[in-house]
Amino acid sequence: MDITTFLRDNNFLSPLLVISTSIFLLFIVKQTKLLSSKSIKNLPPGPPPLPIIGNLHLMGDNPHVSTANIAKKYGPLISLRLGKQLLVVASSPEAAMGILKTQDRHLSSRTVPAAFQQEALLPHSLIWSECNQTWKNLRTLCRSEMFSTKALEAQSTIREEKVGQMLDFLRRKQGQVIELEDVVFTTLLNTLSSIIFGKDMLQFSDGNGSRDWLKESLHKVIEYGSRIKDLGSFYPVLERFDLHGTTKGTMKVFDKVFAYWEVIIKERSALINSPTWSSDQAQTFLDRMLENGFSSNQIYQLVMELFVAGTNTTTRTVVWNVSEFLRHKEVMSKIEEEMKMEKNSDEIAPSQQSKLPYLQACIKETFRLHPSVPLLLPHLAADTCEVMNYTIPKNTKIFVNVWAMGRDPKLWEDPLSYKPERFTDSKLDFKGQDFELLPFGSGRRICPGLPSGIKSVEFILASLIREFDLALPNGADPSKLDMEEQFGIAMKRKNPLKLIFKQKQPY
Ligand code: HEM
Ligand SMILES: *[C@@H]1O[C@H](CO)[C@@H](O)[C@H](O)[C@H]1NC(C)=O
Ligand SMILES: *[C@@H]1O[C@H](CO)[C@@H](O)[C@H](O)[C@H]1NC(C)=O
Ligand SMILES: *[C@@H]1O[C@H](CO)[C@@H](O)[C@H](O)[C@H]1NC(C)=O
Ligand SMILES: *[C@@H]1O[C@H](CO)[C@@H](O)[C@H](O)[C@H]1NC(C)=O
Ligand SMILES: *[C@@H]1O[C@H](CO)[C@@H](O)[C@H](O)[C@H]1NC(C)=O
Repeated sequence: MDITTFLRDNNFLSPLLVISTSIFLLFIVKQTKLLSSKSIKNLPPGPPPLPIIGNLHLMGDNPHVSTANIAKKYGPLISLRLGKQLLVVASSPEAAMGILKTQDRHLSSRTVPAAFQQEALLPHSLIWSECNQTWKNLRTLCRSEMFSTKALEAQSTIREEKVGQMLDFLRRKQGQVIELEDVVFTTLLNTLSSIIFGKDMLQFSDGNGSRDWLKESLHKVIEYGSRIKDLGSFYPVLERFDLHGTTKGTMKVFDKVFAYWEVIIKERSALINSPTWSSDQAQTFLDRMLENGFSSNQIYQLVMELFVAGTNTTTRTVVWNVSEFLRHKEVMSKIEEEMKMEKNSDEIAPSQQSKLPYLQACIKETFRLHPSVPLLLPHLAADTCEVMNYTIPKNTKIFVNVWAMGRDPKLWEDPLSYKPERFTDSKLDFKGQDFELLPFGSGRRICPGLPSGIKSVEFILASLIREFDLALPNGADPSKLDMEEQFGIAMKRKNPLKLIFKQKQPY
């Protein structure tokens, strides 16, 4: 494929025409110099780069699949040139360990997608900061106030209440076609917004009414953030032109959401700064942030990151899990069997989940086949270092292809089959110690929301299965359910999962 075909196929030509030819020429000269001076020895192997675009033409719409295919040819640690950006991808437990453990200190910085390059907000970012003091403080605050055992316990009433509202809604809508993703997303977002702001922010909808603006806005942020074909990220000279309007578009969405939050923050802030306030009145995460003297921008940025990182990923995990259960009748019956045996009350309290080992094995199996964040979030080399005896130069972008590892026949017997049994007698877990199963990453950048995410996933799944029989619309055969994926910050089903819920006979 030549360069013009490549540019045309990827809709790069029209934005390019916007900037003057002279800048473009200047940039080509710069670029060519850079490529010819790539004298770094001992890079991980990879396909030969073309002039200017490097290996960009090899990255399709599903980079986890394209890099997995390149790794099959060149080995578990590969290097690619995407325009000016050098990218290294790990696709084996050994390579992942080299990156996330052995060299974790050097390889835990970040590249920032165009969507999140917002001048006023970026200095307050947890997700996109390098591992500096800002990042440390924010992680510490989240760990103690949101994700500690104590915090999780305090949140369990909210969690139960929100799942209760979901079940009520589904009972009312029995027999109708419901989009599972939408219902679960609403439940999770309301859980988070209740923990943070002390109120629900979304209504359950049956897909008939108008879509909620906040839901649309959050989806839009994720869409902008998932744009992998933003020219600026491959050619830093072009970054400031925001050719695809990604940075501006995201800011517009942010402004609308922040205006809504501002009202709540102001109200609470007045209370906290009043003379009658004492610290034991603090109820929400917002109260904690205000007490810690957070500015509005600090609050906006952190809450937006928690909303974006915490809802889409968790929703997808639930939806993929349900999809797999539907396709495998025997798995569904086993889960039901396990629940019947654990014949306590008819409600499942979050604290009881650990009594469902088979359900947990199912969840692991789903993480293996459908990790919701297939390449983890992009890491960046803060210093030059070595992994598996190859050089990783400073400023290299790094992906760990968790998706490819989950499907590697060298690691898993019959890797494409859904078999929760492979985890029932195994100690293998997803908490970052076992490098063949890393849905949350590992090392210092490991997902801080892991305990909360897992709790929600298990609780929602157990509640749905206990309460309802699930069927596909028009009596479609669940074993033939399509499982096509679509790449994004979190992998989603290409076709939304629509279900009919029918209340179960009591056991
Ligand atoms: C099943 C659900 C979830 C999955 C699969 C998941 C997965 C991940 C992954 C793969 C990363 C990147 C790790 C890396 O870059 O090496 C990450 C980061 C992060 N996640 Fe999650 N996550 C989930 C739920 C949550 C929840 C519920 C929250 C918060 C409410 C959350 C907040 C974050 C944050 C703040 C980061 C950035 C951490 C940093 O850069 O230091 N996640 N998550
Ligand atoms: C931490 O890093 C981010 C960018 O990576 C920066 O915007 C922020 O100001 C830094 N914080 C400190 C305290 O240096
Ligand atoms: C929309 O409403 C109609 C009738 O009000 C109902 O039959 C249909 O099931 C609803 N659709 C969804 C997706 O809920
Ligand atoms: C997540 O965000 C994407 C991006 O817009 C959206 O299309 C999708 O429906 C969302 N998925 C979930 C599960 O919320
Ligand atoms: C099911 O849930 C677990 C976590 O609770 C997750 O690891 C797994 O990936 C999910 N399965 C799928 C297919 O997403
Ligand atoms: C790296 O090099 C050392 C010493 O040259 C050798 O012992 C080791 O096996 C090599 N490691 C890999 C992964 O090739």
